[in-house]
Amino acid sequence: METEQQTLTDRKTILSGITPSGRLHIGNYFGAMKQHIELQQQGDAYFFIANYHALTSRHNGELMRRHTLDIALDYLALGLDYTKCTFFAQSDVPQVTELAWILGSLCPVSLMEKAVSYKDKVAQGLSANIGLFTYPVLQAADILIYHADVVPVGADQKQHIEITRDLAVKLNLAYNRELLRLPEARIIKAVATVPGTDGRKMSKSYNNTIGIFDEGKELKKRVMSIETDSTPLENPKNPENCNVFALISLFASDADRNEIARLYREGGYGYGHAKKALLDMVDAYFAKARDERKILSQNEDEVHRILRLGGEKARERAESVMKPIREATGIVRHF
Ligand code: ADP
Ligand code: TRP
Repeated sequence: METEQQTLTDRKTILSGITPSGRLHIGNYFGAMKQHIELQQQGDAYFFIANYHALTSRHNGELMRRHTLDIALDYLALGLDYTKCTFFAQSDVPQVTELAWILGSLCPVSLMEKAVSYKDKVAQGLSANIGLFTYPVLQAADILIYHADVVPVGADQKQHIEITRDLAVKLNLAYNRELLRLPEARIIKAVATVPGTDGRKMSKSYNNTIGIFDEGKELKKRVMSIETDSTPLENPKNPENCNVFALISLFASDADRNEIARLYREGGYGYGHAKKALLDMVDAYFAKARDERKILSQNEDEVHRILRLGGEKARERAESVMKPIREATGIVRHF
């Protein structure tokens, strides 16, 4: 489901995850995290750090611990309120891997072979391991184990949600019972794909990102590196096919955006001017979150406490969904 509106009308279970695989960028923010933070008020919301998914592409314990904590700090600094939603680490809910195995046993190999993200990642040089191949099965379990209704994600995750629905139908059909609920993707049209500094999709795999918590020289370097065409300063320019303008549109009010578009078309306004305007916008937009993050990072124990609390709530819900599945599948527990 692509949507332009921000408000959900009836109270639903909302769920999304983010992989702790490096420094977060403004594509992650506008494509996913911003919605997550807005949605935490509008339903029974679950947000988690997908550390098992990160394990499909990296094997360094120290980095995993670091990135997990970093993402938790990022989310909390950006305004995720753990008292309003359930915020936790994927690996704190063992029922997820349990369900993933059951779903995997119903999943045709051909369904995984069609998944574009696997092919993309292998094409980028990641090793073609089984975890990476069955990544969408684990993602389906993540979603289905909480009976999620709505999954806010960026456009690149659409196929994974379709696979999730397919697998839910397969389990329900196999055991002739409504064991799992079918979720819907929620993709905001305007920010479906945030462009990176080279004009491709902003992604940590392309080294074309602007980090949410970048500041000072680093932020300036990133913004100034955005690729543009070579139209001379004095000539009129088309804002619609400019990466700098696309990014400005994410930060600016409608009035500011229209004014900058007018300056582009008028001529005498260079890409350097536009980049400077963008730099100021990014800097101001995330200033409060940057300060908040510095404070939070002084108290890592508190972050672990928050994740522990979220994990407890998530496990309770997951267990209530898992029980009837164990019954239906005949997988009896002896403990
Ligand atoms: P990356 O491509 O940098 O590895 P992830 O795949 O970890 O990012 O994505 C995390 C979340 O952010 C997903 O919901 C994804 O759809 C969203 N996202 C990532 N990059 C973008 C982008 N350039 N535009 C919009 N959303 C994005
Ligand atoms: N695959 C997602 C990504 O790359 C992360 C993710 C894991 C996820 N499990 C999820 C997103 C469940 C939504 C729901 O961004």
